[in-house]
Amino acid sequence: RRVVVLISGNGSNLQALIDAQSYDELGGEIVAVISNKADAYGLKRAHDAGIEAVALPHREYDSREAFDGALIKVIERHQPDLVVLAGFMRILTPRFVQRYYGRLLNIHPSLLPAYPGLDTHARVLADGAEEHGVSVHFVTEDLDGGPVVMQAALKVRRGDSEERLVARIHAREHLIYPIAVRWFLEGRLQLGTEGPTLDGTAL
Ligand code: GRF
Repeated sequence: RRVVVLISGNGSNLQALIDAQSYDELGGEIVAVISNKADAYGLKRAHDAGIEAVALPHREYDSREAFDGALIKVIERHQPDLVVLAGFMRILTPRFVQRYYGRLLNIHPSLLPAYPGLDTHARVLADGAEEHGVSVHFVTEDLDGGPVVMQAALKVRRGDSEERLVARIHAREHLIYPIAVRWFLEGRLQLGTEGPTLDGTAL
């Protein structure tokens, strides 16, 4: 089973996937990593792991449609079973989302449907929310609104800074994303017409 990972930055989630693969725990192989930013540290992580690393700077394209068209071309060279968004900070066009429907996963740093969008940690702290967490979901045209397949929660601690919260969130991301990817690649996790299922049971 073949996986393409899309990133924009540090790529710590990518690293967690690479590590899982190196322990034979990913259920497949990361065949390419693509970044819309040429200086993304995650590209170096891919390169160091012997994975094809492709920079596709979105600024070189006139429109979102043109960029996504180029992105699809690169992805299709690798014939993936699954496309994983791991800190990919571009909104994808409906054409892209439709093309990979049911085989496109994202990880978002909140307990969706709470806190879609950016700056989730700062908003959680500003609201004095007691709980925060991470969600893995199938991507649909509804931004951060696709069906959730896995979450990990944490209690916000008194005195948690944004930095501390980000670190606690990341630890959970790195724990659950490789599991979700593995379950998908093993055919256990699917997006059916009625929503996501695990081992045939509705989630
Ligand atoms: C993660 O917090 C992820 O949930 C969000 O972007 C961040 C990416 O971090 N979508 P990294 O690049 O994987 O370190």
